Amino acid sequence: MPTIKIAPSILASDFSRLGEEVRAVVDAGADWIHVDVMDGHFAPNITMGPPVVAALRRHCSVPMDVHLMIANPDEFLEDFANAGADIISFHVEAANHPHRLLDKIKGLGCQAGIVLNPGTSPDEIEYLLESVDMVLAMAVNPGFGGQAFIPEVLRKIQDLRAMLGDRDLEVDGGIDARTAPDVIRAGANVLVAGTYIFANPSYVEAVEMLRAAG
Ligand code: DX5
Ligand code: ZN
Repeated sequence: MPTIKIAPSILASDFSRLGEEVRAVVDAGADWIHVDVMDGHFAPNITMGPPVVAALRRHCSVPMDVHLMIANPDEFLEDFANAGADIISFHVEAANHPHRLLDKIKGLGCQAGIVLNPGTSPDEIEYLLESVDMVLAMAVNPGFGGQAFIPEVLRKIQDLRAMLGDRDLEVDGGIDARTAPDVIRAGANVLVAGTYIFANPSYVEAVEMLRAAG
């Protein structure tokens, strides 16, 4: 099992102080910064795009993990790579040619991830496994932070870990001190958490609580 990594989602941070928040949570021990990008089409919300990633790049000394919850990911891969993304993940449900997109992301010099919505089977990515660097399993439906964890996803995480070997398996949505032990036991090693971390008076305590769940 690869090492446990904590990836705070800045969706739950104070947007009026985004650079400060990124620095604070990195200083608190975050391994990655998770950027939740939504376009109001694939996901019922609009959040942030390449200019925000570019602005945060100089405040962020750890990998920027960009999660595209957008309808046409192909149109924006270069913009996010040029803005400074280290990892770019897109939804298999939003791609007509996922194999080509994965190769394009790697050609841009980024790690390539594929994302599965809670209801999507791992079968959908069976023939993409040689091309992915990481898989992200959504434990809530895309759109908003603070939603309840969907427990059915635990069985999927077990199946995905068996498919991925020692590659990173990220879980996103509803991760807190209660659900973190379950997802790690199931095989996830990268934990995205927004509300749990940014609502906590101590970012250090929140990050370490999640890391200790393993
Ligand atoms: C859903 C978002 C959330 C977010 C994490 O579209 O992707 O999963 O990052 O939300 P919390 O940690 O607040 O459940
Ligand atoms: Zn996300």
